[in-house]
Amino acid sequence: MALEDILNVVPAGSVEESLAKQIDYSRLPRHMAVIMDGNGRWAKERHLPRVEGHRAGIESVREIVEGSARLGIPVLTLFAFSVENWKRPVSEVSTLMMLLKRYLRLELNTLLRNNIRFRVIGRVEDLAPDVRAELVVGEEKTAGNTGMIFNIALNYGGRAEIVEAVRRLMTSGIHPADVDEERFSEHLYTAGQPDPDLLIRTSGEMRVSNFLLWQIAYAEIWVTDTLWPDFRKHHLLEAIVAYQKRDRRYGGITQPAVAGR
Ligand code: IPE
Ligand code: IPE
Ligand code: MG
Repeated sequence: MALEDILNVVPAGSVEESLAKQIDYSRLPRHMAVIMDGNGRWAKERHLPRVEGHRAGIESVREIVEGSARLGIPVLTLFAFSVENWKRPVSEVSTLMMLLKRYLRLELNTLLRNNIRFRVIGRVEDLAPDVRAELVVGEEKTAGNTGMIFNIALNYGGRAEIVEAVRRLMTSGIHPADVDEERFSEHLYTAGQPDPDLLIRTSGEMRVSNFLLWQIAYAEIWVTDTLWPDFRKHHLLEAIVAYQKRDRRYGGITQPAVAGR
């Protein structure tokens, strides 16, 4: 089903087609998380202002959101704005927020058509009222959808999320002896969702930058030098093909194909 969905939208004989055929659709990542990085460098290479990189990055967001839904990925999380990103110039921050609002307004129909559930994770309460209002519309209008969950991490910080979860636990009346990893996870923004199996970072940086710290404990990490505005469906397919070749041991040992020989 997912292969047919993808083949319908990729040109015959293309790289996408050959990658799509290499994927085992019964072993897709249950959750894919993406650190969209390199917009500024993309703009710099073209002697453009940084915000032009953010503008161009919207096209990549569109392609990856729709592509992931078609593939049958259950959860996709995109890191759009970190709690640390407020350190940037006010004009860059306000352009990012404006682009986000515009994206949501323009893409709402695509989200609905693809049965995508839109969710925001992060300290939404610190965002401007107009941005929050747009986010609420996106969440409410897609709440009844049953397909891919699309989390957007906005004003998100992994440590802040953990601290907030501790606070909520402490006021929930739960006895400390009853706190375990599962209970703890239920107090994170991603409660009820599987942990990321695959973490993608664009633009070559080998760090996690405070993203989903608890949830990525055993995620497979795939880093590409491609800058986010250049990231296309074939990169996504490439990441999934690479992910499916990884040997995930979770601290154990690889099971031999035929035991006892
Ligand atoms: C990622 O691109 C977008 C956000 C963090 C909002 P950057 O703006 O970080 O681009 P670089 O890393 O400076 O190239
Ligand atoms: C991570 O990118 C945050 C987002 C993608 C939103 P940054 O560009 O902010 O990360 P650092 O500063 O390179 O670690
Ligand atoms: Mg960056």
